[in-house]
Amino acid sequence: MAEEVILRFDKVKFEYLHKKPILDEACFSLRRSAKVTLMGQNGAGKSTIFNLIKKELTPLSGQISVAAGATIGTARQTIARADAALSVEQYFSKDFELIPGNIKSRIAKALDAVNFDIPLDRKVGELSGGQQARLLLAYSLLANPDILLLDEPTNNLDKAGIDHLIGFLLTYDKTVMVISHDADFLNCFTEGVIYLDSFTHQTEMYVGDYYSVVEEISRRVEREQRENAQLEKQIKDRKEKVNFFAYIGGKLRKLA
Ligand SMILES: Nc1ncnc2c1ncn2[C@@H]1O[C@H](COP(=O)(O)OP(=O)(O)OP(=O)(O)O)[C@@H](O)[C@H]1O
Ligand SMILES: [Mg+2]
Repeated sequence: MAEEVILRFDKVKFEYLHKKPILDEACFSLRRSAKVTLMGQNGAGKSTIFNLIKKELTPLSGQISVAAGATIGTARQTIARADAALSVEQYFSKDFELIPGNIKSRIAKALDAVNFDIPLDRKVGELSGGQQARLLLAYSLLANPDILLLDEPTNNLDKAGIDHLIGFLLTYDKTVMVISHDADFLNCFTEGVIYLDSFTHQTEMYVGDYYSVVEEISRRVEREQRENAQLEKQIKDRKEKVNFFAYIGGKLRKLA
């Protein structure tokens, strides 16, 4: 079952604004337990892909399929105002219909994964911004989701926090998809890259550790930029020719 696909994008098209595509027939699939980086330029549409997976957005066309019963987890950016008065323990327990008997040890494990030492009776509204971000990250780990989506998880972590998170992810036997600018962090645990090309709006899969894949991609991007530059020059030359002939044509017309 190791090769079982847990998530598949099949010719997915998406745009926020008419004729401004973010994804144009994007295709990729992830097998169960895969650990991948989602890479692309700023504004390419990485967070949009996460929102599509979470079904917070709907594709214009194409299919996004998630294996039957697979759960999706992601770290929220902020603690809702309504939850500010909850203690850490109450916050972690809020989504359970039936609170598991081992909740305290599960909370401890999740907090440990991000190296966050905090009494369980502290009010979450009293935590600093960075502490809240850690809490939310730990909270996303608690549910043990089949597909874990992490958008810049290292932003509010110190070195020790990042090391703990790497350790956690290395032993996490579920699927993880990460967006991060922290190359060292990515290189420690990802085994492939999904590259979102902001020109073609398509995705490509690369297999290998982060650094070797990045090298492969940057060689490709450089080549494409060279080809684009050549194409642009050809177009510019052609336009100049057209303008020149239009100018001559105008003169001749005037003369006539
Ligand atoms: N709700 C929206 N309405 C219109 N345009 C949007 C909306 N959300 C995002 N966009 C635009 O869609 C593009 C993709 O946004 P997205 O946030 O997915 O990019 P990203 O790859 O996550 O970028 P970053 O690396 O900066 O986080 C951007 O150009 C963004 O401005
Ligand atoms: Mg983003």
